[in-house]
Amino acid sequence: MSGFQYQNGQLYCEGVSVAKLAEQHGTPLWIYSKSALVTRLREIQTAFAEVDPVICYSVKANGNLSILKTMAEAGSSFDVVSGGELFRVKKAGADTSKVVFAGVGKTDDEIRFALECNILKFDVESEAELDAIASVAKSLGVVGRVALRLNPDIDAKTHTKTTTGKKGNKFGMDIERADQLAEKVLKNPNLELSGIHMHLGSPILTTDPYEAAAKKAVEVVKAYRSKGHPIHWINLGGGFGISYRKNEGPAASEYAKVIVPYIKEAGCRLTLEPGRYIVGNSGILVTKVIFKKQEGGKTFVIQDGGMNDLIRPAMYDSFHRLWPVAPSVAMPEDVEGEIAGCEKVDVVGPICESSDYFAKDRYLPPMQRGDLLSIFSAGAYGTAMSSNYNAKPLAAEILCDGANSKVIRRRQTYEELVANELVD
Ligand code: LLP
Repeated sequence: MSGFQYQNGQLYCEGVSVAKLAEQHGTPLWIYSKSALVTRLREIQTAFAEVDPVICYSVKANGNLSILKTMAEAGSSFDVVSGGELFRVKKAGADTSKVVFAGVGKTDDEIRFALECNILKFDVESEAELDAIASVAKSLGVVGRVALRLNPDIDAKTHTKTTTGKKGNKFGMDIERADQLAEKVLKNPNLELSGIHMHLGSPILTTDPYEAAAKKAVEVVKAYRSKGHPIHWINLGGGFGISYRKNEGPAASEYAKVIVPYIKEAGCRLTLEPGRYIVGNSGILVTKVIFKKQEGGKTFVIQDGGMNDLIRPAMYDSFHRLWPVAPSVAMPEDVEGEIAGCEKVDVVGPICESSDYFAKDRYLPPMQRGDLLSIFSAGAYGTAMSSNYNAKPLAAEILCDGANSKVIRRRQTYEELVANELVD
């Protein structure tokens, strides 16, 4: 929860009162701590400094322009998976020459845009994609730098919906197929094989999958080099876990401990694509209790934020700590299980779906209509996955920096909701 702390019974983001922000800007409201964002990036930069890595913040986790600008100013590059994400990176004023581009379905237009931006490399996921990059590169008279995305068949022991490095996932390719493709690259003057890529899944709460992946990477690099490929880069993707619960996520230095020796052995530069590790605990979602009701032996706290804002609990059954902004009981380190002075409730949203909930059977201090609730660890894959379902406008976003705060996205209006629709 770095960047967020309770002082005199009130939640603060850095030096700014969360209740005041909610009063000023309304709810639901996303609030981020700039110092938390930069601190988390620094942790990774420092942990891997020995191999001078290129850290590519994963735009998909949270692509708000001000967050991207903050990352760029702190020395990060970017991992994108679409032309839209690359557009965001450019719009934030960042250098595109260290951008990496993954994703199984890159269109020719997206490939052209990326080549025009002179990105560092494409993480290629299939033979058809390699052909498409070669053909667009030829039409532009340039060379496309590619890294083959390998499926190392490693079980990262994460949620089935977010695991990517196991055989049978749609991502990457088998090492044997990659070998054949490497030959193809060698023969094509519009392609250069400059690296390999693996992303195992997200979030990964142990370090051994990274060790296994790094070990495989060294073997593959050695084999490709012996065939004449100028391999400079190993990209081990993202997926570093964070503490949604108490003490869950290892520190960046733990991941570095198992990865760095292999990168040194390979004599390669390292790229990493962390998203959640940087932004996950740097942001909260603040909601307001609309009603409370008791039905079927349960107490429901119904608040104004819903699965349209934060879909993670509905989609992955994921756990988020939540606690009042001005609590009558201090927030314990462990919010699971029974807590004295608290009542057992389901925290739900206003959306017409039974899966619209943030917590079930959770102990919270008694809450009343109008009370504010903070949903923690919401910075990653929160706004990024939010929608207008039930015609709910997208919430505003605030970035706090010391005693200052600024709006980094206005709340959407009803007029904006329908602005692109055409009626005869
Ligand atoms: N690189 C690649 C190729 C990825 O596919 C991903 C995430 C990342 C990097 C960044 O992973 P991170 O460091 O943020 O864990 N919506 C899900 C997570 C989906 C992750 C998709 N890929 C969630 O809310 O948990």
